[in-house]
Amino acid sequence: MSTVQTNKVLYNMSKTIAVLGAGTMGNGIAHVFAMHGYTVHLADLSARQLQKAMSVISHNLDRMVRKERITSDDKVRALVNIHTFEKVAPAVEHAYLVIEAITENEQLKTNIFKDLNQMAPERAILASNTSSISITRLAREVTFPERVIGMHFMNPVPVMKLVEVIRGYQTSDEVADQVLDLCADIEKIAVEVNDYPGFISNRILMPMINEAIYALFEGVSTVDAIDDIMKLGMAHPMGPLELADFIGLDVCLSILDVLYEGFGNPKYAPCPLLVNMVTAGKNGRKSGEGFYTYPPDEEPYVSIQFNRPG
Ligand code: CAA
Repeated sequence: MSTVQTNKVLYNMSKTIAVLGAGTMGNGIAHVFAMHGYTVHLADLSARQLQKAMSVISHNLDRMVRKERITSDDKVRALVNIHTFEKVAPAVEHAYLVIEAITENEQLKTNIFKDLNQMAPERAILASNTSSISITRLAREVTFPERVIGMHFMNPVPVMKLVEVIRGYQTSDEVADQVLDLCADIEKIAVEVNDYPGFISNRILMPMINEAIYALFEGVSTVDAIDDIMKLGMAHPMGPLELADFIGLDVCLSILDVLYEGFGNPKYAPCPLLVNMVTAGKNGRKSGEGFYTYPPDEEPYVSIQFNRPG
């Protein structure tokens, strides 16, 4: 076990991880590692976002206490394990693993990987939680691309068992094995895939969501009927339109664009209704409206009316 003494803390490097980005995915990842005894450095440029993330984590740990999955002492221990940072450099300097979970934007992610190449320890594993951006391309920013890998967590992170582990073209076996061990240590199930557009999860999920939007766009049926059919008929926990709102319509559109451009195949072309909704700022649950409207403290209701074919 390698340790580093600083002015304040003796770091156990193999148990120190940094999470960059304190949004929905970042705070879920921090929650899970902290609950499993890791020291988590959670970084975000916005102090407000960090504050919000800590209150979301506390709320989600409370759910687990209520369900008797963890004790209140476990909750306190998990919260104490999380340290917040408004800058990347001090967050990553003693990290064994860095997980980038910032906005799904290739330019921003590329810049972060350039920074990590300078700021993170030379042997640290550099992971991205990207849902579709090429790991091989992000690895081009790093002197030793074999240490770059994808760790694609699913939302809500504390609930979903899967981590899709994406091996870039140059990811080493040693790094992949260490990431598989880490996933097991936080009680997630890792499944390995290679680095092609959309990996496996979104290559299969997004065409289904897009097809559901086309069915609505073409007037085949209503929002709630489409969702009911997939929930009741296929045992999906959420219908595809509800799930698209949950993921974020902007995120769905950007993943479909990656598939469309990456494969050059028109079957991935995003439905014009999705494009219009995102252009209008209707990004789903996080914006208060998508296929459903989400009034605070009330049940969601369908926002898009269906015209019966005449
Ligand atoms: N943290 C901790 N626990 C949470 C939680 C959170 N953020 N959100 C929900 N839970 C827990 C609840 O406490 C509850 O626990 P019990 O089973 O012990 O009762 C359980 O999860 C179910 O929650 P609810 O009863 O509140 O609600 P639900 O039954 O409607 O389930 C859901 C909610 C888990 C989100 C479920 O609807 C679901 O599984 N939906 C599908 C989610 C999915 O497909 N995620 C993947 C999206 S794709 C992605 O993330 C990747 C990408 O690249 C786009």
